[in-house]
Amino acid sequence: VKKVYYWPQSHPNDWPSSAVEEGQSIFEHRPVMVHEVLEYLAIKPNGIYVDGTFGRGGHSSAILQKLNDDGRLLVMDKDQDAIAVAKSINDNRLQFKHGSFTELKSWVAELNLLGKIDGIFLDLGVSSPQLDDSSRGFSFMQEGPLDMRMDKGKKLDATTWINRASEKEIAKVLKEYGEERAYRKIASKIIEVRKVTPIKTTLQLANLVKSIIPPSKTNKHPATRVFQAIRIFINDELNELQEFLAQSLDILKQGGRLVVISFHSLEYQTVRKFYYACAQNPHCQKLRQVERLIRPTDEEAKNNPRARSAMLQVMEKIV
Ligand SMILES: C[S@@+](CC[C@H](N)C(=O)[O-])C[C@H]1O[C@@H](n2cnc3c(N)ncnc32)[C@H](O)[C@@H]1O
Repeated sequence: VKKVYYWPQSHPNDWPSSAVEEGQSIFEHRPVMVHEVLEYLAIKPNGIYVDGTFGRGGHSSAILQKLNDDGRLLVMDKDQDAIAVAKSINDNRLQFKHGSFTELKSWVAELNLLGKIDGIFLDLGVSSPQLDDSSRGFSFMQEGPLDMRMDKGKKLDATTWINRASEKEIAKVLKEYGEERAYRKIASKIIEVRKVTPIKTTLQLANLVKSIIPPSKTNKHPATRVFQAIRIFINDELNELQEFLAQSLDILKQGGRLVVISFHSLEYQTVRKFYYACAQNPHCQKLRQVERLIRPTDEEAKNNPRARSAMLQVMEKIV
C-alpha cells in the first residue's frame, strides 16, 4: 500500500493525525502538552534539539515549526514504524536514527555535537499506534499475539518470556514494574495455566488476570498493571531511562533544557531520583530544576484521555 504522510501539520489543531494512508487515517497519535513542551524547551529558532521518542512526530512537528533554516532537530525511536514516518519527511533540518535513546550520546558524538544540544525532549511509554495495532500485542482490550516489543528487531518478546520465566521472576516483574498487589497469585496462575497451554495472546493473559483480580471500582481494567509491568520489562524501559539520564549532561550545552513527559510514577521517580542524585553530589551539581511537575490543563485532560496521567518535568544544565 502506498503510504502518504502529511508533514508537518499545517495548524496545531490538525496535529492528531500525523500519518495518513491512502486518505485514511491510520493509528493516530495525539501529542500531549505540546504548548508546555515548546515553552519549557525554550526553543531558539537556530538551536539544535533532540526528540528521543519520535512516535508519530507530533512534538517534532511542533518543534520544527519553531525553528528557522539554521535550526536542527535530531530524532530517535526504537520502533521501526516510527522511524519509517520520520524517513518519509522531506525537511533538511531533520535527522533521524533508529535505536534507543541510550544510543543518543554516541550518535551526537559522531555528529560532533556533544555539549552543543540546546534541548532534549522525551515523551515516554507507548504511542497510540503501538497500542491500537493489535498485532503489536500491547493492548489488553483486543486480541493479538503477546509481543510488546517496541523494537521488533529485539529477540525477547512477551510470549517467549512469559512461557519460560520462573514463577519468582514473573512475580518480581509484576511487583516491581506493575506495583501489582496480587503479584504472587498471578505469577502462580501463569505457571499453572502454561503447563497446560502456552500463553500466546493478549486476551489469554488479560482473562487470566481477570479471573484473579475482581473488577475495580475505578473502571481500570484488572490487567492494566500486569500489562504495564511486562511491557516495561520487555523493553527495559526504566534501565534505559536511567542510562540515558546519566548521559544527558554530556549531550546538553550549558543552559540546555531537558524536558520529560512520563505517564506513571516509576518513570517520574526515575527522573526525580536522577535530579536529586545530581543536585546533592558535589561532583555533579550541574542541574537546576526548572519545574518539578507540570500537569496538563483540565481542558486537555478532558479532550485527550492519554493526557490525563501525563507528568512533565523540566531541568536545565547550569555549568
Ligand atoms: C508516547 S510515544 C511518543 C509520541 C510522540 N511524542 C508523538 O507526538 O508522536 C513514545 C515513543 O517512544 C518510543 N520509545 C520508548 N522508549 C524508547 C527508547 N528507549 N528509545 C527510543 N524510543 C523509545 C516508542 O517506540 C514510542 O514510539
